[in-house]
Amino acid sequence: MRILIIIAAALIVLAAAGFSGLYALSEGRLRDVTRGPAFDHPIPKDAASIEHGRHIARTRGCFGCHGQQLKGKDFGEQWDWPERAVAPNLAAYARDHDAATLEAAIRQGIGANGKGLVSMPSFNFARLTDEDTAVLIAFLKSAPVVENDLPKPKLGWGVRWTFFTGEEKHMNWWADRVPRLKVDAAAEPRRAHGEYLAMTMCNECHGLDVRGSTMYPPPTPDLAIIAGYSRDDFETLITTGVGMGGRELGLMRLVAPDRFPNLTEAEIDDLYLYLQSLADEPAPENVFWRPAR
Ligand code: HEC
Ligand code: HEC
Repeated sequence: MRILIIIAAALIVLAAAGFSGLYALSEGRLRDVTRGPAFDHPIPKDAASIEHGRHIARTRGCFGCHGQQLKGKDFGEQWDWPERAVAPNLAAYARDHDAATLEAAIRQGIGANGKGLVSMPSFNFARLTDEDTAVLIAFLKSAPVVENDLPKPKLGWGVRWTFFTGEEKHMNWWADRVPRLKVDAAAEPRRAHGEYLAMTMCNECHGLDVRGSTMYPPPTPDLAIIAGYSRDDFETLITTGVGMGGRELGLMRLVAPDRFPNLTEAEIDDLYLYLQSLADEPAPENVFWRPAR
């Protein structure tokens, strides 16, 4: 009898050591970030810049995840992979943190606590220009704070394990891997603008280089598919999430109407121009959530 108690006690001690070891190692992975220079671009205060910042926030989906009043959102069971994802009250966060902390979260995927973010899609914003980042911050800082009681976010053991094994990476790691913009803005200003829009709006789901991804089920297509879309069908697709021939698209149907009807006609033209030109580019390498081809 006594030996059984000793064995049971030993197992409990071992399990506790295992969990605290896993906790420490996964925390180590989350703290292993590469930080760029502190953002010191001036933050404008005029109404036109703040309005432009609202446009950036709207078209980049901040409202969809952080709530229409930016008061934060508990993803709860709707989105349970980290165990509990909670998008913080963004208006309150912007009031309480300086521009450099905001920029590190938005473009570099590093939280105010110094850890890599887990669910915030910073890789979608990594290529935002300094000017657009500054007006976005100006808008967030101007947003009225609506108090909201949110639960604490939670990172489950299963997810900690995938960080420990390296199967899962934090957002700072992903943001660092977003390709540089390639189109020469001096030679082709409109196509370069289209590339900028695609690489800061569509790469959240269509792969870091917008050439398709398997991150979400169903897999998202390579946006070279736009070569087969007319300008009208393209506008319908991105403003309503309804594909060619009236096909209802899942996730696209959810996010597109919240974000992209706010694009200007000129933005849609440039985005279309760029995406149409993708079909001429060689097939991309097997990177970013894509299986080997
Ligand atoms: C797909 C949903 C989603 C979108 C889109 C999104 N966020 Fe987040 N954001 C989150 C979640 C979830 C968190 C909580 C941290 C985490 O789990 O990574 C977060 C955290 C943050 C934080 C706090 C980081 C910290 O210090 O912990 C800031 C700042 C932020 N987001 C800003 C923005 C801005 C600005 C936009 C739009 C440009 C945006 N987010 C778009 C989901 C999103
Ligand atoms: C939040 C994720 C998300 C974002 C952001 C997103 N998409 Fe999608 N998109 C999807 C998913 C998922 C699919 C696969 C079909 C579905 O919706 O179920 C898809 C499908 C598509 C298709 C295929 C339509 C067809 O004919 O089958 C096109 C084209 C497309 N998206 C274009 C875009 C463009 C352009 C942008 C940026 C302006 C964009 N998407 C941004 C998730 C997204």
